[in-house]
Amino acid sequence: MLNFKYSETQEMIRETAMQFAQVEISPSVINRDISCEFPKEIIQKMGDLGFMGMMVSPEYGGSGLDAVSYVLAMEEISKVDASVGVIMSVNNSLVCWGLETFGTPEQKDKYLRVLASGQKLGAFCLSEPEAGSDATHQHTIAHYDQGNWVINGMKNWITNGTSADIYLVFAQTDREKKHKGITCFIVDKDTPGFEPGKKEDKLGIRSSDTCSIALSNVTVPESNILGGVGTGFKIAMESLNGGRIGIAAQALGIAQGAFERSVNYSKERIAFGKPISELQAIQFKLADMSVKIEAARMLTIRAATLKDQHVSYVKEAAMAKLAASKAAVEVALEAIQVHGGYGYVREYHVERMLRDAKITEIYEGTSEIQHIVIARELLKAL
Ligand code: CAA
Repeated sequence: MLNFKYSETQEMIRETAMQFAQVEISPSVINRDISCEFPKEIIQKMGDLGFMGMMVSPEYGGSGLDAVSYVLAMEEISKVDASVGVIMSVNNSLVCWGLETFGTPEQKDKYLRVLASGQKLGAFCLSEPEAGSDATHQHTIAHYDQGNWVINGMKNWITNGTSADIYLVFAQTDREKKHKGITCFIVDKDTPGFEPGKKEDKLGIRSSDTCSIALSNVTVPESNILGGVGTGFKIAMESLNGGRIGIAAQALGIAQGAFERSVNYSKERIAFGKPISELQAIQFKLADMSVKIEAARMLTIRAATLKDQHVSYVKEAAMAKLAASKAAVEVALEAIQVHGGYGYVREYHVERMLRDAKITEIYEGTSEIQHIVIARELLKAL
């Protein structure tokens, strides 16, 4: 099932992403981590290169690529800056994918085209102050009023929250039906009553913006319902299955970045009269880091390959995210140890990588949620 040789196109995408990350993203990464500045120009350039709608069909302004190419690009971008990685991941996996899969031709024309080409940015509003892992318990409500839907509530932890233009908002439209009474609405940022709050001051991925969003009497036409009344939870879950591949690739990028920096440092750093790469204590660390990364990479590429083959990848995406996020945290932590005191300061990047890595065990389903998803799928199949 696994083909370890990437196609020419896949290699070209990886190379383009790698070059772009080195030339355009790397120079400002430390300063943006300090200032929390959103990388607006970088995202615009990524849109021009086709990275913001990688899997969307060219008919709607996308690049028409497969999920494996997406993973390769995501890894290269996140290797340099995981903040840019998550901005890209949310737009590609959680917003464009849902619009392309469930949208009407009119919705795709109006919203998908601008999102996939990078002219506009998207956000995915599922989480709430009291509905994170327990996503079926939506408190945000929407009621029907003379041809329109009126949304009221509060969303939390929204990636691209202040910078996006178009938001997918999940709301309860029929409480009695529980999760089958959740509906997804497409909301323009300038709709009256739609108010992003202040940016969160985060441990990591500081150059991406995360905020809560208050919705008070936000009124949208019926034509802004994505996929039909009551299908919102299905859309959220299916979008998150793909999203988890994106976050696995982001985590893989962080781990690979920390590993490469560790290898390079260990060859340059002299201790006890030789490069520390010649010390067995360091060699064992590098070997362990590499095994964790390769195992996570195989799971991630497998999940992406299944997605490309249009067969179920629910379990595999959860496995990939679980393994890659764990690898990212462990590898980044060990990278600091390899660097010694230098690893503890900003200039050497690996301390940021550890801070960035932690969120991959939390968003788009915590590691605990991934365990639940994997176990349920296993038990269903056996
Ligand atoms: N794929 C497809 N369908 C799924 C699914 C999946 N991975 N997980 C659950 N479902 C379906 C179930 O099959 C069920 O459908 P039916 O009723 O038609 O049978 C329905 O969803 C409800 O599922 P459960 O009965 O299992 O509900 P539950 O409450 O016991 O568990 C859950 C649901 C798996 C815990 C789910 O709430 C979940 O995944 N929670 C995590 C939410 C999450 O990942 N949030 C991330 C926020 S977004 C974010 O981080 C974005 C960002 O900005 C970076």
